[in-house]
Parts: sequence; structure tokens; C-alpha cells
Amino acid sequence: MQSHTHTHTLILILILLVLQTLTTTTSQSLPSPDPTTPLIIDTFTHLTHNALGFWHGPLENLRTTHPPNTNSITLHPTDPDQIYHTQLSPATCFNLRPYRRTHYLHILFTGSTSFTISLTQNNPHCNASHAPFPETWDSVPATPYAHGPHIYIPLWHFAIDHARALSVAFNGWYSRDPVTLFRVELVSAGAVPIGFPVPQRAENGRVVLRCSRPGAFAFGIDDGQPGLAQQVVRILEEEGVLVTFFVVGRGLRDPETNFSGVYGEMVARGHQVALHSDTHRKLEGLGSIAEIDREIVENIKSFRDILGIETRYFRPPYGTIGARTRQRLANYIKDPQIINWSVDIEDWLWADTKTPEKQREAFIRGVMRGGNLAVMHFLSPTTVSYFREMIQFVKSRNATIMRIDQCLEDPDSPPLKISVP
Ligand SMILES: *[C@@H]1O[C@H](CO)[C@@H](O)[C@H](O)[C@H]1NC(C)=O
Ligand SMILES: *[C@@H]1O[C@H](CO)[C@@H](O)[C@H](O)[C@H]1NC(C)=O
Ligand SMILES: *[C@@H]1O[C@H](CO)[C@@H](O)[C@H](O)[C@H]1NC(C)=O
Ligand SMILES: *[C@@H]1O[C@H](CO)[C@@H](O)[C@H](O)[C@H]1NC(C)=O
Ligand SMILES: [Zn+2]
Repeated sequence: MQSHTHTHTLILILILLVLQTLTTTTSQSLPSPDPTTPLIIDTFTHLTHNALGFWHGPLENLRTTHPPNTNSITLHPTDPDQIYHTQLSPATCFNLRPYRRTHYLHILFTGSTSFTISLTQNNPHCNASHAPFPETWDSVPATPYAHGPHIYIPLWHFAIDHARALSVAFNGWYSRDPVTLFRVELVSAGAVPIGFPVPQRAENGRVVLRCSRPGAFAFGIDDGQPGLAQQVVRILEEEGVLVTFFVVGRGLRDPETNFSGVYGEMVARGHQVALHSDTHRKLEGLGSIAEIDREIVENIKSFRDILGIETRYFRPPYGTIGARTRQRLANYIKDPQIINWSVDIEDWLWADTKTPEKQREAFIRGVMRGGNLAVMHFLSPTTVSYFREMIQFVKSRNATIMRIDQCLEDPDSPPLKISVP
């Protein structure tokens, strides 16, 4: 009898809960966060999933260890590209908009602060099978936000579409000192200790992985071999398309390369020529801000002196980017556009192997997944030999090939040239 009463009470409570949920969801479309309880994202209790039940883990060979008798994880970075993600959803989208103005990302940690904290944003499909995944992310440097074992970052400091939040990530290492994470959570402003020094949001550049203009496709072509340049020029002329070249300062200054002639001609022919650092190192991994600055300033100076151009567009060597590089770019360039990619021809992987055709496969795979901003080089004859075919493949999909500034609908970009086939 007693157990029956209990069961009935339980059912009643459940019904009330369901009713309550129904009324709250119908009266307002967004879930209303409870500002008194933190949203605990990760306590590093399980190897493969976080406190929300979603995946967390390292990528790019980031080594992790688990200190005994604590719920924590220690990260042992050796490269700025290494990254640790803790996901807010099963790789779909998590709506952080209700928290954006009121909540802080709180991280409890020990060790180095020589890294970046990122909030990633999923693509409009909220689907990991669509390229790009993630679509973009915003980053802050850990150091100015850290005080003792705590980091508090206002959620609005991350300039992403908060309705499509995907993960909190740790990356952009510029020291090999380990970091131990104990807790990642969202807390209300009232939970931030009084007097905790939270810095102002610093300007930075946005990271772009795809074209925004409907039906657009863009090739971003990085470093090349001088001997292959004329072949690339000819293909572009014959196919009647404009592209974007990312060019390092050092190569431009080196008279042996003839790059001042080659890229001068590219500019004259209407192509976009954009920044790619001065000496092609992983900028975010450099030990000092002065070194990052030099890479940016000398690249800008070479463009001004040799090509007579200025540009807001920058592609980081190796796609390596973190909070410091983003902020330093914004120090020298108004509203910098940091260009990654959503189609990788993987020439760095296949160009000089026995299976160079894998470049074509990688390119087609990227396009079929919805990617529309490519990365390639003209360092190998095999890559150049597939270039025309790739252009024609994009055309056969009815996409319009254009410069990256055009595909991003930049009001300062030249008007689209309608090419007659
Ligand atoms: C994600 O996209 C893939 C490829 O288009 C599709 O097969 C899959 O059903 C999608 N998943 C979800 C959850 O929509
Ligand atoms: C250098 O580049 C210019 C412009 O593309 C070209 O006209 C010239 O033939 C090139 N010189 C050599 C030696 O390749
Ligand atoms: C650049 O984009 C590619 C493709 O989406 C991705 O694999 C790579 O990790 C990105 N770079 C960084 C620094 O995240
Ligand atoms: C491209 O457009 C042509 C002509 O309108 C059409 O026949 C073809 O199916 C389209 N191809 C794709 C991949 O959309
Ligand atoms: Zn490069």
C-alpha cells in the first residue's frame, strides 16, 4: 500500500514537471537559464565524456595524462595547433544566447597560462558532416583573464553566433609547460568573486572558413614555386577566373624568385593578393609578441614597398591561429579577415607521393561536403596538373569562382566580372 502511494506521488510530480516544462517552453521559445545554478560543462571525471554527457578529448596528438586521485586532466602541448575540446552538445548546436550577457565561462586550472581559450561555432546545418565543421570560433588569451587558479571570461567576449555554440576549446600553445584543468562551467556574474580582475575585451580579427555569398566558390592559393607560376597564370587566364594569392614577405623580397614580377602581374590581372606572414612560421607558437609583430609588420611593409598594395586579408601559415595572433593583427590592420578554408586539396599530403590523384579526391570530397573556400599551393607539378580540372569541377556544380574578398561580399572588393566561356 505504502509503495503504491509513493508511486502515485511520483507520477503526480512527474506530470507536474512535464506540465511546467510545457508551459515554460510555450511561453518563451528559448530555454530560460537559472542564474542561480552554474551550468557545469566538465569536471574531467570520465575519460571520453564531460559533465553534460558529450564528447571531450584532445586532437592533433595533444598528449594528456590524468593526475591520480583527482578529477582533472593534464595537457602536455608541443605544438600550437594541438587542441582540447569539451563539447556543449553531441556535435549539433547549443544555444548560449540566454547566457550571453549574464554569464561567465569559469575555468578552474593550474599551470601555464601560455595558451588560448576558444568558443567554437557550428555550421548553419548544426551537423558535423557538413563543411566547415566547426564554422568559426572566437578566442581570448588565457593570461589576462587568469588570476590564481581561476579564469573568468564574460561570454559576450567571444564574438560568435551564440545560438550555434559547439565547444569550449583550449589551443594556441606557446609554451610546453603543462596545464591541468579541473572544471569548466558557466556561472552568473554574481558568482564571480568581488574584485576579480576581468580585462576589457580586446579587438581581434575574425576567422573565416567559408564564402558567404550564395553560389560562390573561392580558391586561396598559398606559397608556390617560381617555376610553376607561369603555368598557373595561363590556366587562370584560359578559365577566366579570379583567385586570391597569399604571399609571404620574404619571398617577395627575394629577387631569385621573380615573385615581385609574378604577383605584380597577378594584381594587374585583377587577382587578390593577400598577407601570409613574413617568414612562414607558426605565428601563434612564437615565444614573444615582438616576434609575432615582426611577422605581420614586415609582410605589410613588403606589400606596400614592392606591390604598392594594402590588404585586410591574411592567411596564417599552416592555418595556425590563436588569440595572440588575432589580436596583434587587429593592432596593425583595421578589421582583419583571417582566412582558413573548408576545402583542402591536401597537396601537402599527396603531391609528391605515388598517389597524387588523392589531391583530386580530397578536393571533390571537400566540395561535396559543402566546402566553398579552398586551400592549395603551386609547389608541385602534380597539383598544378589537376588545377584546371578542379576549376572545371566547381563550374560544373554551377558555382561562381571569385576572389575571397568578393565571396565574402566585402563592399571594398571589385565588382564581379562576368566571364564569357
Ligand atoms: C548530417 O548531414 C548528413 C549529410 O548531409 C546527413 O546524412 C545526416 O542525416 C545529417 N544529420 C542530421 C542529424 O541531420
Ligand atoms: C617574371 O615574372 C613576370 C610576370 O609574370 C614574367 O613576365 C617574366 O617572364 C618572369 N621572369 C622570369 C625570368 O621568369
Ligand atoms: C583550418 O581549417 C581546417 C579545415 O576546416 C581545420 O582542419 C584546421 O584545424 C583549421 N585551423 C585551425 C587553426 O583550427
Ligand atoms: C547546373 O545547371 C545546369 C543548367 O541549368 C543544370 O542542368 C545542372 O543540373 C546544374 N548542376 C548542378 C550540379 O546543380
Ligand atoms: Zn603557406
